[in-house]
Amino acid sequence: MTKQLGAGLVLGVIGTVLIAVAVWLTVAYTGAYNVAASDQHADAIRWTLDTTMHRSVERRAGDVELPETFSDELVAQGAGHYAESCVYCHGAPGQDPTEWSRGMRPEPPHLTEAASEWSAEEIYWIVENGIKMSGMPAFGGHHGPEGVTAITAFVTRLPGLSPEDYRALTGGGAAAAGGAAIAPAD
Ligand code: HEC
Repeated sequence: MTKQLGAGLVLGVIGTVLIAVAVWLTVAYTGAYNVAASDQHADAIRWTLDTTMHRSVERRAGDVELPETFSDELVAQGAGHYAESCVYCHGAPGQDPTEWSRGMRPEPPHLTEAASEWSAEEIYWIVENGIKMSGMPAFGGHHGPEGVTAITAFVTRLPGLSPEDYRALTGGGAAAAGGAAIAPAD
């Protein structure tokens, strides 16, 4: 009896694995899944990507060590990096993200609002490592720990930052004008 039950269980598991492999290969080979970014993700896919991303970042950001407070100098330095590398996709106070970034799936969120949902350690981790399958690049390689810390310092100040303060921080000059060449500010 127990032996029969054991054999049945093994067969059941093998059968389930075979069906899963068949579904996986069918989806990959037949082109059934629509990869068009002009189409929204199905709710189930969106939920899976979102939940996986949030849990993965939460789990890994615990190893990040940051200073207790960020100096205004560091925030200003980060603002310059932000205007050069991030504003196209994430916008800034008084500056919308570029039109082309609205065609990405997922759409990069406006960080002026979304940044408040993340701790400084989580922001650091995301900027350093990027997010697979989303278009969020890893910046750790070329900005290095100091650059990523400066960007983090600035992003934590984004919620509640006024367009005037943003312009003052970025000098309203070269870096900000670089963004404006693609997406006119205001
Ligand atoms: C080419 C576009 C692109 C650029 C450039 C970019 N990001 Fe992102 N970023 C994304 C996308 C897309 C997501 C959404 C990922 C997701 O939801 O799975 C994202 C997500 C994030 C998040 C998590 C926010 C959330 O709630 O989903 C943070 C924080 C972030 N980016 C910071 C930055 C910073 C800081 C920079 C510049 C150093 C930057 N990003 C540059 C595309 C970009």
